[in-house]
Amino acid sequence: MRNALNVAVIGSGGREHAIVKKLRESVRVAGLYALPGNAGMKGQAELVPIRATDVAGAVRFCAENGVDFVVVTPDDPLALGMVDALEAAGIPSFGPNKAAARIEASKVFAKDLMKKHGIPTASYEAFDDAEDALRYVKNYFASGRDSVVVKADGLALGKGVTLCHSCKEAEDALVMTMKEKKFGDSGNRVVIEECLEGPEASVLAFCDGKTLVPMVSSMDHKRALDGDRGPNTGGMGTIAPNPFYTSAIAGECMEKIFIPTVEAMRESGSPFKGCLYFGLMLTKDGPKTIEYNCRFGDPETQVVLPLLEGDLLEIMLRCADGTLDAAQVRFSKGAAACVVMASGGYPGQYANGFAIRGIDDAQKLDGITVYCAGVVEKDGALATGGGRVLGVAAKADTLKDAVANAYKAVEKVHFENAHYRKDIGTYGLQSLR
Ligand code: AMP
Ligand code: GLY
Repeated sequence: MRNALNVAVIGSGGREHAIVKKLRESVRVAGLYALPGNAGMKGQAELVPIRATDVAGAVRFCAENGVDFVVVTPDDPLALGMVDALEAAGIPSFGPNKAAARIEASKVFAKDLMKKHGIPTASYEAFDDAEDALRYVKNYFASGRDSVVVKADGLALGKGVTLCHSCKEAEDALVMTMKEKKFGDSGNRVVIEECLEGPEASVLAFCDGKTLVPMVSSMDHKRALDGDRGPNTGGMGTIAPNPFYTSAIAGECMEKIFIPTVEAMRESGSPFKGCLYFGLMLTKDGPKTIEYNCRFGDPETQVVLPLLEGDLLEIMLRCADGTLDAAQVRFSKGAAACVVMASGGYPGQYANGFAIRGIDDAQKLDGITVYCAGVVEKDGALATGGGRVLGVAAKADTLKDAVANAYKAVEKVHFENAHYRKDIGTYGLQSLR
């Protein structure tokens, strides 16, 4: 492969913006395309109007335009087999193939893998028949339990999981998922599992199929409203490192969860290459896996990559060609926080097209980067065009400063009906007192 490469990033969110920014720092990047990217990436990547799920269109563009390496970021194109299609066209890429992407695309696959290999997770049963599932939850609650989690098997935009605190809630969730098909075919099967308790941690890890290198830990804030109230969202803000994720816990996770998962995927015939995301719950019985994602998290990436020291492209190339063991992967000692500014109403209905002001002022502050997600260009300026609009991220020496600085920067940014949580990092910082 040539020394300076033309690279394409698939996707259009804040996570992709963070990847584009980090790749721009690499001396090995020649041209950089985003398919389709967003208006906030202009000047950093060339925007190509091809949807992330248009596998054939993306492969054709890359082949015709001399793209040397592709970073496939979102779950949909990975589950659709974009990595396989690129490989068939002779174009190397970062990301798992379709078979390995099942670790996220099918919760039944992921749970069965964990059970078979003794990887700590919530105990569960899987069902493809709604009546069997309904009978099971009736018995479950009749035996004295007071909560259960119902999960659609397939991808559901992060909305296929329902925490149920009564038998009625569990029955409603099953009817909605399996009978009314609220999440389409993703609800043909369900996982019903025990409800775990404890702080959550996200750990992203580089993988080349055999070697796994964890990145700095982070904590997402998934609910829409302060105090972890309101509906689940894609993520309203993040901090890194995660104060609950001590080095002792990290060691335990490496031994009991991370390495066994990589080995299990190899053994299943689908070695995992790319970024493997471990959604963990740090319970009083030790860390347990609540989900795998086959990709970088959003907005975890916006706090993790700014702390990465070294060349992201170099590491990604090594993940693709199986030489990650020789990579330099180091993280700075500092901390980062990201506050998501969303359209009022998200994750429900919201209006678009409001002018966004103040991004430049925010970025004049020390250590601030504004990552664009749901933004469009309107009359030559940026306007809102999605649910999660921006991620205002701060890097500082301490987590306390990172959180405070992110909120100072948020005050500089304005658009109509902006909604953001005021308590990103509060719970994590309490644990440091
Ligand atoms: P998932 O899509 O599997 O990540 O689930 C979304 C969110 O639901 C997680 O981030 C947790 O907050 C919550 N959750 C999922 N599984 C469980 C569980 N077994 N116990 C408690 N909370 C859970
Ligand atoms: N922030 C959670 C996710 O990316 O799935």
